[in-house]
Amino acid sequence: MTPSGKRQPQAWTHESLQREVDALKDEPGAMLPILHAIQDRCGYIPEAAVPIIAETLRHTRAEVHGIISFYHHFRSHPVGSHVVQVCRAEACQSVGSRQLEAHVKQQLGVDYHQTSRDNEFTLEPVYCLGNCACGPSIRVDDEIHGRVTAEKFDRLVDRLTTSILEVQ
Ligand code: FES
Repeated sequence: MTPSGKRQPQAWTHESLQREVDALKDEPGAMLPILHAIQDRCGYIPEAAVPIIAETLRHTRAEVHGIISFYHHFRSHPVGSHVVQVCRAEACQSVGSRQLEAHVKQQLGVDYHQTSRDNEFTLEPVYCLGNCACGPSIRVDDEIHGRVTAEKFDRLVDRLTTSILEVQ
């Protein structure tokens, strides 16, 4: 992350992916730590990582794909500079997250699992951020925001967009 909060995924090569896998392959239950490490580094799990993980851990590629698709957290596609997650779980729904969700989609011009045309925002659903008492809750990159209204969300986007412009 830069001081503006802009994500800085690193470029990957076959060798760098293999290094990430090798560094964690002997951990108990190595699959999840490896997937987290790769996503932290690249911003997503590149398709090229799947055969490397499968061969190193002696799993099938289908098993690796199964784990990536089972966990909402893992992405198999690149994301924008900022990832916005809107909580869709019950406590947030009871205080208006569905209306907020509609506003967020309209404001960013995307649906879930899509990235805005300027490549700045990717929108994802999430099911509880552990901030239920302060819903509706969203997470933007690594920061959780509570009691989010449409106005508060717009201010947040303005701030992020302004900081993006300032670093260009
Ligand atoms: S239900 Fe939304 S943070 Fe828990």
